[in-house]
Parts: sequence; structure tokens; C-alpha cells
Amino acid sequence: MILSLFQLTFSLAGLTSATNLVHYPPKLTNLNNLSFVLNGSGAPGIFTSSITPDSEYGIYNWCNMPHVRTREYQVPASDYTLKYIEIIQRHHKRTPYASNTFFKEDISWDCTGEGPVYYGKGTIGVTSDPTVVQWSAYTNPENPFTNSVGPGFVGSNCAFPQITTGGINDSYIHGADLRAVYAERLNLSTALDPNMFKIRVTSNPITSQVSGGLLHGLFPDSSDVAALIQADAFDSLSASYSCPVADSIFTAYTTGSVNWTEHLEDGAVLYEELDAVSGIAVNDTAGWHTSFDHYYDNLSAKQCDSKPLPCSVNDTSLCVNQSLADTVFRLGSYEYSYYYRDAFNSTLFGALSYGAWVLELVGHLKEQIEGTSEVKYFHNVAHDDSLGPLLGILQISEMVWPGMGSEIVFELYEKPSSSGSSNYFLRVLWGGQPMQTSLPLGTNSSGLLEMIPVEDFFDYVNNTIGTGPELFAACQG
Ligand SMILES: *[C@@H]1O[C@H](CO)[C@@H](O)[C@H](O)[C@H]1NC(C)=O
Ligand SMILES: *[C@@H]1O[C@H](CO)[C@@H](O)[C@H](O)[C@H]1NC(C)=O
Ligand SMILES: *[C@@H]1O[C@H](CO)[C@@H](O)[C@H](O)[C@H]1NC(C)=O
Ligand SMILES: *[C@@H]1O[C@H](CO)[C@@H](O)[C@H](O)[C@H]1NC(C)=O
Ligand SMILES: *[C@@H]1O[C@H](CO)[C@@H](O)[C@H](O)[C@H]1NC(C)=O
Ligand SMILES: *[C@@H]1O[C@H](CO)[C@@H](O)[C@H](O)[C@H]1NC(C)=O
Ligand SMILES: *[C@@H]1O[C@H](CO)[C@@H](O)[C@H](O)[C@H]1NC(C)=O
Ligand SMILES: *[C@@H]1O[C@H](CO)[C@@H](O)[C@H](O)[C@H]1NC(C)=O
Ligand SMILES: *[C@@H]1O[C@H](CO)[C@@H](O)[C@H](O)[C@H]1NC(C)=O
Ligand SMILES: *[C@@H]1O[C@H](CO)[C@@H](O)[C@H](O)[C@H]1NC(C)=O
Ligand SMILES: *[C@@H]1O[C@H](CO)[C@@H](O)[C@H](O)[C@H]1NC(C)=O
Ligand SMILES: *[C@@H]1O[C@H](CO)[C@@H](O)[C@H](O)[C@H]1NC(C)=O
Repeated sequence: MILSLFQLTFSLAGLTSATNLVHYPPKLTNLNNLSFVLNGSGAPGIFTSSITPDSEYGIYNWCNMPHVRTREYQVPASDYTLKYIEIIQRHHKRTPYASNTFFKEDISWDCTGEGPVYYGKGTIGVTSDPTVVQWSAYTNPENPFTNSVGPGFVGSNCAFPQITTGGINDSYIHGADLRAVYAERLNLSTALDPNMFKIRVTSNPITSQVSGGLLHGLFPDSSDVAALIQADAFDSLSASYSCPVADSIFTAYTTGSVNWTEHLEDGAVLYEELDAVSGIAVNDTAGWHTSFDHYYDNLSAKQCDSKPLPCSVNDTSLCVNQSLADTVFRLGSYEYSYYYRDAFNSTLFGALSYGAWVLELVGHLKEQIEGTSEVKYFHNVAHDDSLGPLLGILQISEMVWPGMGSEIVFELYEKPSSSGSSNYFLRVLWGGQPMQTSLPLGTNSSGLLEMIPVEDFFDYVNNTIGTGPELFAACQG
């Protein structure tokens, strides 16, 4: 029983909050081994193409992460009936964020004909079928404020960020692959039935851009869909709700801890090499030197869209080579593993900052068991810092930076027991396969989230996150 397990580990691992939350450390691999990250070699997966060959499908691909597909799907024993699925995914590949485009080199982005699309729609007469309008970003040198937002904007018609053509294509394939696995199992028609299916996005337009591609693959006969969205002030999907306690815990174990700053100090020589190409100042205050995130984003977005690595605008022989880029990619994985799994307080941070979404998930699962909802499938399109803390709460055994299109699937199954009553089981898929965690859940506490009694999951959530009012109070301190 889960509760006694937690009571047992309580004295060993230590109580970290008002709840019975326990941090189970991840596996030690090359991903979170700083010696290997700094002194090893190679990229930790595919970083140059959306395509993973079938023979190795399931490996890490930053440009297009593995997801559920018919070819690899593990069909459960026939006495398990699929009742409900909830999917949360990261958006697909995109241009860099504006904050990451201060890299002063000259590789430009062209978004002609690629949207994003924005227009209003009414319900009467001509208003129901207006002209599709795409945004085309532009700058004008007469506007003296232009350069204050970063040279990446100048001469590009892209919004930073926006999903690229390749990312829309990946979104479509993602939807079509999910349809091939789940349409028959959940009796989904080719047209979307809003009573059976819900899609949810965040206020960042790139999640809606992905939804357009995804839904075309999932429901080929629907062209007009309402996506659910919560206000930023309390959105659980983007986790933009206010939780000052989570923020201070995160700061304490990152900028406030040598466990974090050591990799920045050890990586100082890499910063010198990267800054020499980009022109970023040693005393930069825009985040280029507080983590490797910005360099990672600027380099990986180029490579996923088949662009060359950058050279200095002053000296075209001074370039970022592949081995330097690969080191940045290893550092990125290391940072995500630290943020969400390696740091002792990462589980506590995840529980506080992403607990609200998990409570909504538990509510959806309970409605299924109680038979009070017709919804068969709920799809969430989100961000890396949504999947990050969620993987932290689930205590995945090998943490990575959730790449483009990363997917977690929660499958709820019903199985009749010998006494005739129904039992419900949860299977959690990551990259299309049952998720390996460090939790004492699953057969023989193996941590494999495959057909675990759903009550064990509910108990774990109760111990780790608590109730809604408890979470709200814990966030305020
Ligand atoms: C990497 O290798 C260098 C030179 O061999 C060594 O000085 C340094 O300590 C190593 N770094 C780590 C983190 O192992
Ligand atoms: C970490 O990586 C270094 C360098 O590759 C290796 O020598 C060491 O054995 C690794 N440590 C562990 C615990 O795997
Ligand atoms: C990196 O920054 C440069 C300059 O701001 C910009 O031109 C480029 O588009 C940025 N991003 C990538 C991935 O290239
Ligand atoms: C779309 O994705 C499919 C499958 O990954 C790939 O074969 C095809 O080349 C892609 N098309 C474009 C235009 O990127
Ligand atoms: C599947 O959907 C069809 C059409 O909506 C409906 O007629 C049928 O009863 C459904 N079957 C099951 C098993 O729910
Ligand atoms: C740093 O890491 C050590 C060893 O894992 C741990 O004992 C310590 O609590 C950590 N400190 C912080 C602030 O995370
Ligand atoms: C890559 O560039 C770094 C400097 O940024 C240099 O030290 C290293 O030797 C280069 N590697 C190759 C294979 O050219
Ligand atoms: C290029 O040279 C100019 C003039 O010395 C300097 O201001 C600028 O920062 C340099 N840019 C890069 C990317 O090094
Ligand atoms: C960085 O240092 C340079 C030279 O010392 C100085 O001119 C500049 O104002 C500093 N920038 C910031 C953001 O502190
Ligand atoms: C974890 O966070 C709690 C609450 O802020 C704090 O008291 C504790 O010292 C932290 N533990 C570590 C190892 O940083
Ligand atoms: C679970 O453990 C028992 C006894 O320790 C063993 O007989 C059984 O094979 C294990 N089951 C699995 C799935 O590993
Ligand atoms: C949640 O856990 C608390 C104690 O940690 C317990 O009192 C309560 O009954 C649990 N609630 C549920 C719904 O299991």
C-alpha cells in the first residue's frame, strides 16, 4: 500500500513540506554527470532533423520527440478496456524566442506564407467566413526604437517565436499518428465531437499554431474548433499562476546554490568561445550567462531547420563548430535534469508550480470512474516548462530537456475483477512507451507506470501535492 511506503521512506528521505512529499533521485547517467557533460563528446540525441529512422524510433530527438505510433504501440491484454486518455505535449519546432535572438550573426529567418494566422470570426452571414489573415513581421529604419529589441528582428518577417512550416508538418503527423492508434479504441469519428474531445492551449500563440496542424491530422473532417484556454493569472497548463514559495525554492537551488553555479564556472571557457562568435558581452544581463538556455535555443533552432551554425559578423572564419554546439546541447540536458530531478527540492518545486494541472487531471480521471463525463480524450498543448515540472512530479528516472513535440499520455483502463466490480488502472506513456520512474509504484515497486491501480496514483498526488486549498496555501507560504 502506497501510504505505508511513504511512512517508511519518510524518515529516510526526509519530509520536505507540509505534505508527505519525498524526492526519489533519478538514475545517474551521462546526461546528469557533469564530467561527461563538459569533457565527453557527441550530442545527446538527434538535433538536426525531424526525422528519426524507424529502426531507432524512441531515441531522443530534440527537433521532433518520439510519440505514440501504431508501429511501436504496446497493446494491453484484452481484458483491459481503454476508457479515457489525457495527453500533454510540448509545441513543435519553431523559430527562437525574441530574447534569444541577440546573437549578432547574420543567419536570417524567412516566414513568407507561414502565418501566424489571426482573424476574428462571427456567427451571422458573411462574418462566419472571413478572409484568412496572416501576420508578416517587418521593421522600418525610420523607427528609431527598432534596434532596442534585438538585431534578430531586423530584416526578418517572422514572429519570434512562431512555429515553422516544418513544425506545422510535424504537428500534423503527430495528430495523424495519434488518430491511427486511438480513433478506433476510443470510437472517435473523423469529425470532432466536442462532447467527446477537448483541446486546450496556453496564451502563447505557438500552442494554437500547433493545434491547427495536430487537429487536421486527428479529425480530418473538422475545420473549425474551439480550444479551451485559462487566463494567465491562474492558468495551470502554462503554470503562470502565482506561487511565490515555488519561485523562492527554485532560486535557492539554482542561482543561490553552488550545485548549480559550478557548471557555469566550469563552462566559463565555453562562454568565451561562444561570446566571441555572438558578440554577447561578458557582463550580459539578458540571461546568456545564467544558464546555457539561450545559446542552446539559438543553435538548436537553426540546426532543426537545416540552417548552418553561425559565424561572427566581424570574422567569418570564427564560427561555432559542431563539437561546441554538441557541448551546449549536453549542457542543456544537464540543466533540465538538475532543475526538475537532481536538485533535492526539485520535486517540491514541481508539486507547487505544476500541482494545479495535476489536480485537474485527477478530477478528469475521477469523473470517468464516477461515469459523470462523456469526454474520452483531452489534449493539452503546452511548453517545456510545463512538461518539465510534470516529469518532476512523476519523478521520471532519466530526465531530459523535453524537446519539440514531447508527449506524455495518461491512459485510464477498466478491468472487471473476479468479484464482478470494476477496477481502474493507469498507464503513463513517455515517448510512446510506459514511463520508467524512480517512484515506488508499479509491479514490485519497479517504478514502471504500467497499469498501476489508479488509487495508488491518487494517493501519491494527495501525498505530494495535497488538496487544492492545501496547494494554494502552500504557494503563499
Ligand atoms: C575536464 O577535463 C579537464 C582537463 O582534463 C579537467 O581539468 C576538468 O576537471 C574536467 N572537468 C570535469 C567536470 O570533470
Ligand atoms: C561520469 O563521467 C566520467 C567521464 O566520462 C566517468 O569517468 C565517470 O565514471 C562517470 N561517473 C559515473 C558515476 O558514471
Ligand atoms: C540568433 O540570433 C541572431 C541575431 O539576433 C538571429 O539573426 C538568429 O535568427 C537567431 N536565432 C537563430 C536560431 O538563428
Ligand atoms: C513532413 O513530415 C513527413 C514525416 O516526418 C516527412 O516525410 C516529410 O518530408 C515532411 N514534409 C515537409 C515539407 O517537411
Ligand atoms: C461509436 O460511435 C458511433 C457514432 O457516433 C455510435 O453510433 C456508436 O454507438 C459508438 N460505439 C460505441 C461502442 O460507443
Ligand atoms: C548540494 O548538493 C549536495 C550533495 O548532493 C546536497 O547535500 C546539498 O543539500 C545541495 N545543496 C543545495 C542548496 O541544493
Ligand atoms: C571547435 O571549436 C573550438 C573552439 O570554439 C575548438 O577548441 C575546437 O578545437 C574545435 N573543434 C574542431 C573539431 O574543430
Ligand atoms: C564587431 O566589431 C564591432 C566593432 O569593433 C564591435 O562593436 C562588435 O561588438 C563586434 N561584433 C561581434 C559579433 O563581435
Ligand atoms: C558592460 O561593460 C562595459 C565595459 O566595461 C560597459 O561599457 C557596459 O555598460 C557594461 N554593460 C552592462 C549591461 O553592465
Ligand atoms: C528545500 O526547501 C525547503 C523549504 O524552502 C528548505 O527549508 C530546505 O532547506 C531546502 N532543502 C535543500 C536541500 O535545499
Ligand atoms: C515480483 O516479485 C516476486 C517475488 O519477489 C517475483 O516472484 C515476481 O516475478 C516479480 N514480478 C515481476 C513482474 O518482476
Ligand atoms: C490525503 O492524505 C491525508 C494525510 O496525508 C489524509 O488524511 C487524507 O485522508 C488523504 N485524502 C485522500 C482523499 O486520500
